[in-house]
Parts: sequence; C-alpha cells; structure tokens
Amino acid sequence: MVNVIGLGYIGLPTALMMAAHGVEVIGTDYNKKLVDTLNAGHTTFKEKGLDELFANAVKAGVRFTTEYQVTDTYIVSVPTPYDKFSKKIDACYVVAAVKSVMEVCPKGATVVIESTISPGTIDKFVRPVIEENGFKIGEDIHLVHAPERIIPGNMVYELLHNNRTIGADNREIGEKVKEYYASFCQGEIVVTDIKTAEMTKVVENTFRAVNIAFANELAKICRHDGMDVYEIIKICNMHPRVNILQPGPGVGGHCISVDPWFLVGDYPALTKVIGESMKTNDGMPDFVLNRIYEIMKEKGLKDITKVGLYGLTYKENVDDIRESPTLQLLESQERHLATGLKVYDPFITDDVVKNQYHDLDKFLNDVDMVVVMVKHNEIKENADKLANKVILDCQNVIDLPEVYHI
Ligand SMILES: NC(=O)c1ccc[n+]([C@@H]2O[C@H](COP(=O)([O-])OP(=O)(O)OC[C@H]3O[C@@H](n4cnc5c(N)ncnc54)[C@H](O)[C@@H]3O)[C@@H](O)[C@H]2O)c1
Repeated sequence: MVNVIGLGYIGLPTALMMAAHGVEVIGTDYNKKLVDTLNAGHTTFKEKGLDELFANAVKAGVRFTTEYQVTDTYIVSVPTPYDKFSKKIDACYVVAAVKSVMEVCPKGATVVIESTISPGTIDKFVRPVIEENGFKIGEDIHLVHAPERIIPGNMVYELLHNNRTIGADNREIGEKVKEYYASFCQGEIVVTDIKTAEMTKVVENTFRAVNIAFANELAKICRHDGMDVYEIIKICNMHPRVNILQPGPGVGGHCISVDPWFLVGDYPALTKVIGESMKTNDGMPDFVLNRIYEIMKEKGLKDITKVGLYGLTYKENVDDIRESPTLQLLESQERHLATGLKVYDPFITDDVVKNQYHDLDKFLNDVDMVVVMVKHNEIKENADKLANKVILDCQNVIDLPEVYHI
C-alpha cells in the first residue's frame, strides 16, 4: 500500500492515478479542511479530467486522511519553496513530512521524495532525519527521489504520457518503485541515482526559465528601439535550428519561478546566466507596470482605477495564482504607494485581491484600458468586447486594429 503525503496539485492527481490503476493508496494531508472536502466527494482544484479521475479512484477504493499510515511505501509531495534571502531551497516541509513518516513507518519501508528538490537535498536534509530516528539507510529504510514533470492545465494527460525519472541508492528498490509509477505511466521511466534525479528536475525548469528570459530580454530591446519582437521571433524561428519562446508579463507558479533559484543559492559563483535570467523574468511585472503608465500618458488616461488587469492566475486556463505575474505587479504597485487597478479572472471565484471582479462584462464596463496578463480561452473568444478599449496585450493574443504590446 502506498501512503501519499501531501495532497496538493501534485500529490492528489498522483494518488488518484495510482489508485485508479489498481494500486492500494491512502492519501494523507495535514490540512483537515482539504481532507474533509475530498472525503465529501469533491476535488480541491480545477483541472481538466480531474473530476473523472477522482470518481474512478474513489470507486477503486482510494482513501483520504490526516493520519500517517503504517505501510511499506511513502510518496512525499509537499511544497519546496526557496529562501528569498539566500535563494537556497527551504526543505522544512520535506523534513517535517519525513519526520512524521519516521514516527510510524516499519523497518524495510521505502520513502519516495516526489517534491522538487535541489541536488544534495536528500544527502543534506533527509538522510540525517532518518539516521536520527535510529534507522540504517539501505537496510531499515530505502530512499528514492521521483520528481514530477506535469504541467497544470494538462496534468491528467501528462501523468499518463510523460517520461519520468527515478533516482535510488539501490537499483532494485528503484525498479520496485518504478513498478508503482508504471501502473499508469505509459512514458519511459529512467532509473538513475538520487543526486542525478535531483539535478535533472531542477535543470529542466532552469532550461525553461533561461529560454523565457531570453524572449523577455528581446522584448525589452525591441521596445527600446521600436522593433516588433513578435515579427522578429517569427522570422528567426524559420531558421531550422532556432526556436525562441514568446515574451510575457513574467513567470509564476511553483516551478519555473522557484526551482532555478535553488542552483543560484547553492552555486552563486557558477550561475551567472541563470541568476540574470531569473532577475529578468522577475523584472517583467515592473516592466508591464511601466508600460501601463507610458500608454496611459500617450492616450491621455489619468485615472488608474479605470485600468483593468485581465487574469490573476500564473498561466492560462487554470485556477492556480501562486507567484503569478499579476500578483507580483499588484505588489509592485503597492510598493510604489499606488493602488486602484481593477482585476478580473474567470477562474478565481474567491476574493483574493482588492478591486476584484467576477463578471467579465461588469469588469469591462468599469475600465477604459485592459491589460491582458493571461491568455485564458475566455478572452480570446471575447476579444471583440475589447474593441472600444485601450488594450495592452502582454500575451499577443488579441487580434484587433489598435493593440499595444510589452
Ligand atoms: N504544482 C506544479 O505544477 C508542480 C509540478 C511539478 C513539481 N511540483 C513540485 O511538487 C511539490 C508539491 O507541489 P504542489 O504544487 O503539489 O504543492 P501544494 O502546496 O499544492 O500541495 C502540498 C500539500 O502538502 C500538504 N502538506 C505540507 N506539509 C505536509 C505534511 N508535513 N504532512 C502532510 N501534508 C503536508 C499541504 O497541506 C498541501 O496540501 C513541490 O516540490 C513542487 O515544486 C509542482
């Protein structure tokens, strides 16, 4: 039986997927409200295909609890933020979860860390916890790292089809854990050592962050000298070996905006490109704010309360707002002692920021300028409603005669 610890964006679909494919699974989360919601038959976030997967998993017998279970396999999927000052990984959630596992687990159990962790985290933080509890690693407790690659918005499909990496001290244990994942995963599953697995996950997200930063930097150069960054990228990408990403208003979520910092924190002298890339991406919400003021000046708009940000989530068609560029922009505005921007997102039904709307038409009725921060399908399908507005399209998705870009 597998005890999945942490039932958030990653732990929940993983637990459901295993359960729906014949593995006996109990999910544990210390958030009682979340566990109660699941036990009442509801999922805790919106995601394509999740409700159906949930129904299948419940039918197959998945259970949810706040208690840690006595079993032979644990999958730990708790948050791994970074320390804003040192930039190093903050492993406190992983350490706390492993400590709790140690209180109940029998000898011979395998602890799989699925959370994204920087290279060396298991050596530095996890092994000591296990040894302090009197267990011998490799005999009493086996350690595995199985990072996750799925993207919000397409999680269910990607869980089924992505390739995976499993890092283990002991090949045989790695292969045993691989069987659990192979119950549902149709991709290739590579078994390697723990530190390699730790590094690959962080490197994958760093690759993406650096490439996004390159596109954002091009946008800034082009803005400075009146060039069309989208036309330039389109032409460059016709080169057979060039594939430049699109610029945007910033990077959010708990992966690309976080994980590369782990490397900067641990290897400050060796991560010049990565560090500058992260700063470039983090600077984009401020860049957008400056664009808003520039365009307001050009169009003779004086009232910031007549400017609306479309989109609060960190990417399109999901309800995850963590570290989102819109939140970063609003914070930046408050740091400049200014407030008043209106905000709307079709995926966010709770009030999470000031001046938030829950209806597109009401929102549009109250603003003269719309800043498209997120390319939800809704705004693409309703672009004609923006026709009489001043538009700053940070995502290059609005096809109307007069549109400003970043
Ligand atoms: N969200 C993504 O798109 C994504 C993608 C790939 C990898 N990851 C990584 O997966 C890990 C988990 O991320 P997430 O987005 O699922 O986080 P999350 O915040 O959505 O969920 C984490 C859950 O763990 C629970 N939790 C924390 N400590 C606990 C403990 N000691 N005992 C029991 N429950 C505990 C929390 O209550 C929460 O429900 C992170 O390392 C993240 O970097 C996330």
